[in-house]
Amino acid sequence: MGTDSTGHDWFHVDRVRNLALYIAKCEGKGDLFVIEMASLLHDIPDEKLNSSLEEGKNNLNSFLSSLSLAPHLHAVIIEIIETLSFKGGNESSLHTFEQMAVRDADRLDAIGAIGIARAFAYGGKKGQLLYDPGLQVRENMTIEDYRKGKSSTIHHFYEKLLLLKDKMLTKTGKQIALERHQFLKTFLEQFYKEWNGDYEVNN
Ligand code: ADP
Ligand code: NI
Repeated sequence: MGTDSTGHDWFHVDRVRNLALYIAKCEGKGDLFVIEMASLLHDIPDEKLNSSLEEGKNNLNSFLSSLSLAPHLHAVIIEIIETLSFKGGNESSLHTFEQMAVRDADRLDAIGAIGIARAFAYGGKKGQLLYDPGLQVRENMTIEDYRKGKSSTIHHFYEKLLLLKDKMLTKTGKQIALERHQFLKTFLEQFYKEWNGDYEVNN
């Protein structure tokens, strides 16, 4: 992760850890050790960072096994990470406050100024366009679709980023999301203004 340039670098992990702990402390809930461990390890089994899902799961498992953790903690940490990272994982599988805090923290890092920076970094790395006004916003686009020019990073705002505010699960997550969501909207307004070259000659 140290050198990952798709937005999953160590600093992403560190921000998720800090945000998740902040959420837990504000709400006075949750096991802080479990939240911190799950945050630190949350991207380890991600398919994008491993040659297969299986390999990712094994990496996580063998690392946790190398620590002298109580077996139930090992299982709890794995469960949080699995419900987070598996694509299409359904929200109803989130039961504990620890799961919700880590999930919100990971999603908060995808919006606001940092989220915008990550989206363009990811898009550049994958070779997709900044924007193409001729394209439609469609749900469930795959990275292949983006790469083939069927979507763009600005489209990703509508396909994912602008939807995250309403998916926050904790009270604190919702509050932080409001400001970051507003920033996405302000960014888009300015982006279109510059894109459309909306300037009048005043002389
Ligand atoms: P995470 O692992 O943080 O839960 P993802 O792996 O889905 O999230 O995405 C990592 C980052 O890259 C996020 O900030 C996300 O918004 C961004 N991203 C994912 N897919 C795209 C895309 N097609 N275009 C632009 N940004 C993307
Ligand atoms: Ni993440």
